[in-house]
Amino acid sequence: MKRIKSLQFFAVLLAVLAQPFHSSECPTTISEDLRQDCHPEPGASETSCITRGCRWCETSAPNVPFCFYDSVEDPTCPNNVPVQKRIDCHPQLGASKEACEAKGCIWCSTKVSNAPWCSFPEVGPYGYALSGQPQKTAKGWRLVLMKRNTMMSLFGNDISPVAIDVEFQTKDRLRFKIYDPNSQRFEVPLKIESPSTAAADTSYDIEFINDPSFQFKIIRKSTGTVLWDTSLGDLIFAKQYLQITTTVPSTSVYGFGEHEHPSFKHNMNFVNYGMFSRDQPPTTFANLYGVHPFYMCIESDSNTHGILLLNSNAQDITLSPNPSLTFRTIGGILDFYVFLGPTPENVVQQYTEAIGRPHFPSYWSLGFQLSRYGYGSLDVVKKTVDRMRQYGIPYDVQYGDIDYMERHLDFTYDKENYAGLPEYIQQLKKDGMHYVIILDPFLSKDEAPGTYRPYELGQEMGIWVNNSDRVTPAVGKAWPPGDSVFPDYTNPRTADWWIQMCVEFKTVLDYDGLWIDMNEPANFGTGQYPGCALNDLNYPPYVPRITDSSLAQKTLCPDSKTYLGDHYNTHSLFGWSQTPPTFIAVQKATGKRAFVLSRSTFVGSGKYAGHWLGDNFSRWKDMHMSIIGMLEFNLFGIPYIGADICGFLLDTTYELCLRWMQLGSFYPFSRNHNGEGQTEQDPAVFGAEFAEISRSTLLIRYTLLPYLYTLFFDSHVHGNTVVRGLMHEFTSDHQTHGIDTAFLWGPAFMIAPVLQEGARSVDVYFPEASWFDYYTGDEVPASWHRKYVSVDAPLDKIPLFLRGGYILPTQAPATTTTRSRLNPFGLLIALDERGEASGSLFWDDGDSIDSIEKEVYFLAKYTFSEGQMRTKVVKNGYRGVDSLIYNTVQVLGVTSRPNAIVLNGNVIRGKDLQYQENGKLTLQISVPLTEELNIILQ
Ligand code: GLC
Repeated sequence: MKRIKSLQFFAVLLAVLAQPFHSSECPTTISEDLRQDCHPEPGASETSCITRGCRWCETSAPNVPFCFYDSVEDPTCPNNVPVQKRIDCHPQLGASKEACEAKGCIWCSTKVSNAPWCSFPEVGPYGYALSGQPQKTAKGWRLVLMKRNTMMSLFGNDISPVAIDVEFQTKDRLRFKIYDPNSQRFEVPLKIESPSTAAADTSYDIEFINDPSFQFKIIRKSTGTVLWDTSLGDLIFAKQYLQITTTVPSTSVYGFGEHEHPSFKHNMNFVNYGMFSRDQPPTTFANLYGVHPFYMCIESDSNTHGILLLNSNAQDITLSPNPSLTFRTIGGILDFYVFLGPTPENVVQQYTEAIGRPHFPSYWSLGFQLSRYGYGSLDVVKKTVDRMRQYGIPYDVQYGDIDYMERHLDFTYDKENYAGLPEYIQQLKKDGMHYVIILDPFLSKDEAPGTYRPYELGQEMGIWVNNSDRVTPAVGKAWPPGDSVFPDYTNPRTADWWIQMCVEFKTVLDYDGLWIDMNEPANFGTGQYPGCALNDLNYPPYVPRITDSSLAQKTLCPDSKTYLGDHYNTHSLFGWSQTPPTFIAVQKATGKRAFVLSRSTFVGSGKYAGHWLGDNFSRWKDMHMSIIGMLEFNLFGIPYIGADICGFLLDTTYELCLRWMQLGSFYPFSRNHNGEGQTEQDPAVFGAEFAEISRSTLLIRYTLLPYLYTLFFDSHVHGNTVVRGLMHEFTSDHQTHGIDTAFLWGPAFMIAPVLQEGARSVDVYFPEASWFDYYTGDEVPASWHRKYVSVDAPLDKIPLFLRGGYILPTQAPATTTTRSRLNPFGLLIALDERGEASGSLFWDDGDSIDSIEKEVYFLAKYTFSEGQMRTKVVKNGYRGVDSLIYNTVQVLGVTSRPNAIVLNGNVIRGKDLQYQENGKLTLQISVPLTEELNIILQ
């Protein structure tokens, strides 16, 4: 953004030199110091600015935007609110001047795209006023508010009084909960610890204002930055409509999900996103499979905070240019949690501390995985597996999609087309591989009596989602023949039934993990039979901006009943509530660490499951979008994430699939999955060249798996992200805020994939740090720092860079992790400009349920400084390391050839020591992992 401004600046300088600038050609009453940037993202031009409805006036003044909001477009507007401050007073369709004014709001047309024409007046009839004084409580504050004007209502049934409980939960976590003190409303049953007394020495302050409406602010004490301020719009708290607006201290806002966002850093030009879980292939602006009302904001001084609205009702969020956010939800309560950071990593650590740390994945699940819908037969699966082997492509997991089932019935397998599947799974296991099967949540109710126990037992136990009569099961249509019922996983009895079914089925198919799909829940009709009755739950007065504006399309009617209450409230919790019992089932069935992959997720799902980004398309754009999705799910505490490599819908192409294999080799969850009827796209099907490129890229992944596994350990224990945007590490470099074409594994490894057809180079941005080319060990010249530089990327190469200051544990790769886990380890030491680096290695048996809790693991910490690397074995509790060795150490950034190396007291010379002129030192060694490596460069 800054870069563009400076470009604009130079462009203007040139223009000024060429001909004098006539400000009269650009009429505006907005003075330069008051201009509000209408095109903060790169690429501003007069045309793009005017298309957006904003004013373009060039200026030579530094840091003044050329493109800005001009609010005096319509002089007939009464009491005109500047356009960037407008909050929509008619968020539903069909706004008109009459309807707007009837609500006491102001109708003002504007050319600014998506800006509301009907907006709340600056001092309006809505909102609440403080009743009495704020009361100090053990946890913080309690306030009672009364509606100021009981005659005014946007959608009816406003509630007054409302209460606000403010809890100073931890030094860096504040909760404020706005609710109805007189009647219990739905609250998401996620347990977030609420300490009984207020934390002392908090990093935040809260300020209440009552003038004339009640407003409040949350302030970062150390800087005075206002993180939350409701003064732009009034609180609305009605039976089926809750709205609150806050300003945000900058436009570097990330998060909210699940959507396909066109950029990681949000566009704040009146953009709206609905949130309501839906069986929906990724489409920009559509509400997708999961719900994550969480965002992170980098303040202008680089401190960062995050905020969660813990609410599961259908909702939407508007990002406006002030900048501000407007939350609208149609049920539950307004339950906010604020995380003060101050770094992006701290925010995610604090967020996952509250909602649950990510689960620790098995080592094998970090291997490459292959799947498709519609292999059609075991023979086709076998042929695919064989060609993967023929080319020696690293590959750990094979999947069974719904075509392994008999007629799409859960807990069966097709004994004709998949005859011999149980035996074949055993064969795969003997070869060191793993097998994951899909399960859908719906059960056919129309099998012949006595033939389909999963349904009959469930029926006996009374565990289905019911119709509004609370008695008869909701019946819809999904994959299986006949009609289906839907297990209500919010009911503990359903969990028992599901666990029993999954455990029993393990004796039929010896699966290693479960993939739970369609759990939004998906239903092929609009609501169950016979359709949704006309009432306020099925047709609420306001429907958030979700696809088709329907709460029932592709799912069940909102007035269906679950154990926890109306489906209206629990809809987006369906997949979330299915996940813990599935996790328990897999643990019980396999006796190992659970592998659960869930399509629908909600706040806290990462504790039990990973996620893939759904039914994407085989298009170049989707590849780019997958990076954004992956970065977002790392913010949401679900770091085990990836997209279907090569795309699910549509046919892929050779080049797209190849580039996608390269990118996907660096997804934390790396799976090539394909849709039914699409042309084959496993990496072995395109011939030798493709296979070799995929193989070599996956071998890099497998080499670095000890580093990736250690990142997952850190994520599980401390809540760090695994994959992160550059802005996590270089927060004060504003150019990194908008980068979503490259990403990092932890702090140390940058992946800069090719995302364009035909491209043979990538423009890579190098923040201020030492960087080394992964392939050659060459150091990136300092002149490339803080710049985009074009880097070669021939078809067989994905640009990869190591960041100085870090030590990455590696292991010689193999075609499965079962084999690679026996191989020698290495250390890749990339020195920073001070000649220092540090890192760690976590190792255990890779699949025990509780190796961390039982301390059956190995943990080593490495530090390099002043020409010496020291190792500290912090934990030596896993005897599996006794047979493992280090056999190579590479040091990058060594400024001169060492005369000798002393390794644990022994001098190394000769062929075991290689020094290249680019500063890369390679040592061949043989030292047990349990020995503390000490290396001195002399
Ligand atoms: C859904 C899933 C997809 C799967 C298909 C068949 O579309 O998202 O991954 O292959 O169902 O089970």
